[in-house]
Amino acid sequence: MNPLAGIKSIRDLPIENKKVFLRVDFNVPLDGTTITDDSRIREALPTIKHALDRGARLVLGSHLGRPKPGKTEGLSLEPCGARLAELLGIEVHLPEDCIGDAPKKVIHDLRAGQVCLLENLRFHPEEEKNDEAFAQKLADLAEIYVDDAFGAVHRAHASVFGMAKLFRDRGCGFLLEKEIDALGKLVTAPEKPYVAVLGGAKVSDKIAVVDALLEQCQILVIGGAMANTFLAAQGKNLQASKIEGDKLSLARSILEKAKTKKVEILLPTDLIVAQSLESKEGKVVAADAVPEHHMALDIGPKSLDAFAAAFEGAKTVFWNGPMGLFEKKPFSGGTFGLAKALAESSAFTVVGGGDSAAAVHAAGGDIASKMSHISTGGGASLELIEGKKLPGIEVLRTASPT
Ligand code: 3PG
Repeated sequence: MNPLAGIKSIRDLPIENKKVFLRVDFNVPLDGTTITDDSRIREALPTIKHALDRGARLVLGSHLGRPKPGKTEGLSLEPCGARLAELLGIEVHLPEDCIGDAPKKVIHDLRAGQVCLLENLRFHPEEEKNDEAFAQKLADLAEIYVDDAFGAVHRAHASVFGMAKLFRDRGCGFLLEKEIDALGKLVTAPEKPYVAVLGGAKVSDKIAVVDALLEQCQILVIGGAMANTFLAAQGKNLQASKIEGDKLSLARSILEKAKTKKVEILLPTDLIVAQSLESKEGKVVAADAVPEHHMALDIGPKSLDAFAAAFEGAKTVFWNGPMGLFEKKPFSGGTFGLAKALAESSAFTVVGGGDSAAAVHAAGGDIASKMSHISTGGGASLELIEGKKLPGIEVLRTASPT
């Protein structure tokens, strides 16, 4: 099945002079009120500009962070509104709430080609509860619903799910379309050989995705702290390294399952180790010779070569999770080296969101632009790869998929 079947694109919706609610994911990292990575805002620009050029009266809605009930400090969408205004070169109106008189007044006064950004939807706990009355209040603000918030489509929240159902005219923006298309290819018909690379901290976070990948790929590369647990499961002494002691038997059963499915698993054969996260340099050691009091903080050069070699001849590569503590220079070689190898590969390359997307950008040069697709979604991209049906996508289907 075409994963976009039954979903209208904003291109096909009658948005001229209409009040259009566009759900975006402006859940950006902030340092105080400074946005440290505005990718999610920039990625939404094609849809926003398209809507404004076609004369929509555009109402943007987003969440930011996970505010505790009654607490709003530091999580206003104001910095995002200011950044968006800079990027668009037009005023972005900012009502002080997402429901009630404030947005109603602003939206009433919006002319075709003008835009407002509602205040953080999660300032109302009803958003996450998918509360019907709250969804109705949001829906009352507009005539057409468009979702471009890929990062949030795995959440059955009011602005993603409940309100969408209330619109006859609903569909997806360009970012969501691009994400579903790219990640959908990995689920429905990945070109083989398909190599998946998983990293990051925890095996437990990735069990479902590992299961799904073992059905699809020919090589599964495992790096990062996650690999420590697998190496320990093979009997290696990782000394002070981060290990999920209660997941050793799970790791063993994954290795067994891979054998049955004839999927080759590549684990690091050497590591960069140090005595503390603050160490100014690391030491290369074999994976079975980690010195006492040392911890693995990156994959070693031999492992990097072996992992990169796996991309040769691959037709599809999916990568999620860094190979080490890439934020610190002495431990960034594995992650950045892998990003470079991926950029040089002729395969269809997809990078899952979150840390891996940040790593690809931090790797510098033109590495990021050479990836076929870098997802803006963390949890959402993993859930799609797991083959799950995501509420924010399914609710957009207005015709049955064939
Ligand atoms: C994300 O950053 O992955 C999305 O914006 C979803 O945020 P959430 O995990 O707080 O729902």
